Order: sequence, then structure tokens, then C-alpha cells
Amino acid sequence: MSLVEQDMYIYVYLPGVAEPVLAGKMTSVNDDVTRKKKALFRYAESYFARIDRKAIDPVALPFKESPDFVYETADKDSQEAFSVMYDSIPDAWGRARMLKNAGRDKMSALEYILASGEDRSGFLAYGSGRSGPSIVAPWSASHNKNELLDISAAALIISEDHHVTLDKEDAQKILLFGSSLGGARPKVTVKYEHKVWLAKPPKEGDAFHYPRVEYASLTLAKACGLSTPEVRIVNVNGKDVYLIERFDRYIRNGILERSGFLSMHAAIGYPKRKMTPQVEGTYLAMAERVAAVSHQAGTDKKELFGRLVFNALVGNDDDHLRNHAFCATESGWRLSPLYDVLPLPFKPIAERRLNQGFGTEGNLCSIKNLLSRSESFGLSEKDARLFMSEVVGTVRANWERVFRAAGVPDSDLGGFKKTFAIAEVFERDLAQQT
Ligand SMILES: Nc1ncnc2c1ncn2[C@@H]1O[C@H](COP(=O)(O)OP(=O)(O)OP(=O)(O)O)[C@@H](O)[C@H]1O
Ligand SMILES: [Mg+2]
Repeated sequence: MSLVEQDMYIYVYLPGVAEPVLAGKMTSVNDDVTRKKKALFRYAESYFARIDRKAIDPVALPFKESPDFVYETADKDSQEAFSVMYDSIPDAWGRARMLKNAGRDKMSALEYILASGEDRSGFLAYGSGRSGPSIVAPWSASHNKNELLDISAAALIISEDHHVTLDKEDAQKILLFGSSLGGARPKVTVKYEHKVWLAKPPKEGDAFHYPRVEYASLTLAKACGLSTPEVRIVNVNGKDVYLIERFDRYIRNGILERSGFLSMHAAIGYPKRKMTPQVEGTYLAMAERVAAVSHQAGTDKKELFGRLVFNALVGNDDDHLRNHAFCATESGWRLSPLYDVLPLPFKPIAERRLNQGFGTEGNLCSIKNLLSRSESFGLSEKDARLFMSEVVGTVRANWERVFRAAGVPDSDLGGFKKTFAIAEVFERDLAQQT
């Protein structure tokens, strides 16, 4: 047996503390022969002793009685880092850019984590030593951690999508600032109106106006009473760009601060633990996690149910586990505000399904199935039905007005009429059932 060990130091940006604080050390162990991996973690004594300490992951790394406790990933998971750290790594779009800049076709999870830019989710930072976070990347790069791109930098991403060749400096800037958040589409974190936003530009070949449709969707969700961040449409170099305020970043007294982020993907024990989401009712697993993690579990479980109904109505079947998360607030962890809800046009009513299961009939979007496990969301069948009727009524009465006000082009509206027809059918059926 030949074990290869690599240490990584984990830092936390605590609220009101100017410099990131060393929180602990992780050792990644890789068995060269069996190819099995695992990770070990210990909180630093100095961190453990702080009154303002925060667990870096409330599920897998909660504080124990002593700082001597060694946390270990499960053997069967074979992970080289703890799940929360995978939230620091981008998905397809960001990874492709990292590989391109590194001139490689593969990087390990640990390499991705150490190379992740300052815009990564949450309040964690990483380093190969104890002297502070450092971005260890297979390309040369350094930048000021408190710097934020101005909105106009989003234009660089748009240019890139339109195959304009970027010079190396611009490419590195995008890589450093914009590659740390997950997701399949181009995105970059920007400062605008003294707040921190995620900017999502359109992409060549989009089948409909993504930025305006996503903006309309969050506006409609807000009208339904769901918890949503601020959203905007801004024009950058003639392109409409969708902005959503980042709930894990804020500017206080002119200083950029961060708060904790834990995706449902990580909270449920991914990346390695595979479930068959449609069958296993992943929304129910999410509700269990909410019950365990949120300090306002009742409110947040009801919110999750509302999001489930909303996703069904708008035909958003991209509701995978990285599109749900927890965030740390001053009073504790909560279900994060809503994000990445993209209605899809031409969604049929019959056999409409979500990405994740939620009821006795898996992921099928019928009234019966949506209500079938209401108790898992802390609601009686009657209360769930009432809440659902409110969401359905709001969507039915407002979607078209909200979409038009958001500037969704007429040419896109026909497809969404088909999708939103479900709200009329649900409203009628719910009225008949009472
Ligand atoms: N308002 C926000 N505040 C903080 N983090 C966010 C916010 N919105 C999105 N994120 C983070 O950024 C990631 C990517 O964003 P988003 O899901 O909107 O992108 P996408 O490319 O459309 O994703 P997908 O691959 O799911 O289609 C999310 O998984 C989440 O971790
Ligand atoms: Mg997403």
C-alpha cells in the first residue's frame, strides 16, 4: 500500500474581522494502489477557542467538545476533500476555463480547490501553508482579495462567448474573478450600486431571452411570497445582463464581507454518494436537512414546499441539488434565498416532471403528487393545499404581466403560454376539489 498525503489549510472570513482566520488543517489521503481517497480535518486550537468561531460546515464538521477531534470522510465516499469544499469549485463553464489556462485536460479536486478564485461560494479560503490563504494554481496569478470587478467587466465574458480573442491579462482576470461559482452558464461576480452581484449574460445560441426570463421568474417568485435576492437587468455593451445579488457577500463599512454557504449537494453528502433522485424523493431529503440545519426550520420547510410548487408551475426541471443551498446568517444557518430558477417554454402539462423526486409518484408534477408528502414539509394536507392554491393563483394571475414588464420578447411569450397553462388547470382543479 502506498499512501500519498497532502495538507491543505482552511481559512474563514469571519464577519467584522479584516483578515481571514486559520480554521484548521485538512489532510487528503490517496491510496495509490486501491485508488481510494479520504480526507481528515482538525480545527485549529486557536480557532476552536474563539467566541466568534463558525463551523465551516454545520453538517459534516460541527464543533465537538475538544479541538483534538479528527473528522474523517466516509470510506465508501472516497473523497479527497470534505463536501463543503467541493462547493468552492466551479462546474462545467469555470472548470473548462481553468483547464484551458492550465493547459491540462484534467485536474484533481484538491487542485481545483486550491486554485479557486476569491469569488468562490461562501466564507472559506484555502492555502498550502499557515501564513494565510493563497491561490495555488497551475497558472501564474495574483490579485487583491478585496478587489471586485466593475459591472463593465461582465462585457469581457460576453465578448468571450462571441469568440473575440481575449488577451492573456483579460483571460486571467475572468479566470480569477469569475470561475469560482458553479453552474453551467457563463457568470462573473461584480460590484454594482455598492452591492455584490452575480452577473449572468446571455449566451450565443440561447433558445430564448435567458436574462430577462430569469429576471421575470425571480420577480414572480417574490410575488408568490418566496424568499428571493434582489435582481436587476443591466445593459452592458448592448447586451442585457441579469444580476442577482449574492447572499454570501455584502459590503459593510466599505469592506467586502462573506458568509457561509453549503449547497444541498454537499449537505446531503455528495459528491460521491449517488442517489436516484427521481425515485428517492430528494426534496424529502432536503426537508430533513432543513430540519437539522436551519434555525428557522418550520419557515424554511414551508419555503421549500413553496419552491417545489413554483418549480412545477414554471417548468424549471433544472432544480438539482446545487441549485438549493443553506447560507449562514447572523443568527444561524438558514435555507438560502432562491436562485437559478429558469422557466422553460413549451413544457407540456401532462407528464411534467422535475429533476428531483418529492412525492409518492416520484417527480411527477400533479396536484396529488405535490401534496402527497406535505407532512415532510411540516404542513398538514389542508395547509399545504391552501399554500399551493395561493402560489398557483398568484402565478396564474401575474405571470404574463410580470414577463411583459420584464421585457421578455413577444416572440418568447407563446412558448411560455404553453408552460404556464398548468397554472389555470391547477387553479380549476384545486377549486373543484374543495
Ligand atoms: N444569489 C446568489 N448568491 C450566492 N451564490 C449564488 C447565487 N446565485 C447562484 N449562486 C451560486 O452560483 C452557482 C451558479 O449559479 P447558477 O446556478 O445561477 O448558474 P447556472 O450556470 O445557471 O447553473 P446550472 O448549471 O444549475 O444551470 C450556484 O450553484 C450557487 O452556488
Ligand atoms: Mg445552477
